[in-house]
Amino acid sequence: MNLKSQETREEEKLIRLLVKNEQFENKKIVAQKVNLSINELDLLLRQLQNKGYKFCFHPHLGFQLESIPDKLNIPLMKAGLDNKIIGRKIYIFKSVSSTNDILLNISESKCIEGTVAITERQNQGRGRLGKNWASPVGGIYLSILLKPHIDFKRITIFNLIGAISVANAINSLYEIPISIKWPNDVLLQGKKLAGVLSEIRTLSDNTNILVVGIGINVCVDTDQLPQEAISLKEYFKKRINLITVIWKVLNCFEHEYNLYKNEKAGQILKNWRQFSTILGQQIRITTENEIFEGYVSNIDLIDGGLIIRLDSGLEKKILSGYVEILK
Ligand code: BTN
Repeated sequence: MNLKSQETREEEKLIRLLVKNEQFENKKIVAQKVNLSINELDLLLRQLQNKGYKFCFHPHLGFQLESIPDKLNIPLMKAGLDNKIIGRKIYIFKSVSSTNDILLNISESKCIEGTVAITERQNQGRGRLGKNWASPVGGIYLSILLKPHIDFKRITIFNLIGAISVANAINSLYEIPISIKWPNDVLLQGKKLAGVLSEIRTLSDNTNILVVGIGINVCVDTDQLPQEAISLKEYFKKRINLITVIWKVLNCFEHEYNLYKNEKAGQILKNWRQFSTILGQQIRITTENEIFEGYVSNIDLIDGGLIIRLDSGLEKKILSGYVEILK
């Protein structure tokens, strides 16, 4: 093993320990836990301070992590994940065209389930229905590679899983009124806070990989976003640490993905209902070729499709489209 990866592992181990522990820690005990001498621990703490970590030192109680830097880096990213699958491999970029494209074009030998690509900004961020996704610095732009054995029709359920993960994450961090507009819009005060774009690539052995891309407006000024969008910074009138939000989203994603893998789609639907704005509403939905109006009665458990009762009394399932709630 080379020295660099050894150092990174110790850094990761220490950060993980400090991030998980909200109390003061005795230096001697911490040094033992991460297999370092006290001097080596002091050196590592100084290096971390130079990277933007802030510690609080107490003459008797030891020390405590006060705040983490707001700069994406792999050891820190991994330290807050409790996952077996999501985040198994992480790539971090300063700027890319689109994180979905990075994973859709990754070489087949690197198609590891749970791989995550994160970037500080995108210059060709893509949204659903052929739209652009504004991606200036300050937002979260990440994609997750999955190998779920699905057919193409079931892709919508992954938009739901993505949206539930974001809604759950933000709700549990900040307890603010988050809602989901089917299939993938995460709304705050009725404005778009986040979106999900799932795409499929077929590999040479004919299996599919699925890439779920998530964009969240966190520390972005609203003049950099479309009119109908909102950011957490605008809502709270202060900066929000991106990493804390990414941790929570990826941990929630693993939870929902496990429900999917264990065929507990009913539970996913229950989680979705908690945030749904359109269940039981009269809506207009514009698909690629048609426009329908009707009452939203349910979501299909298999593919995430929206089931609406048309005015004629017939039920119709729709897999993709733009929804408007009719008052
Ligand atoms: C939408 O609501 O229209 C979907 C937006 C999805 C945006 C994310 S940002 C990360 C990933 N990369 C992209 O180009 N798009 C998705």
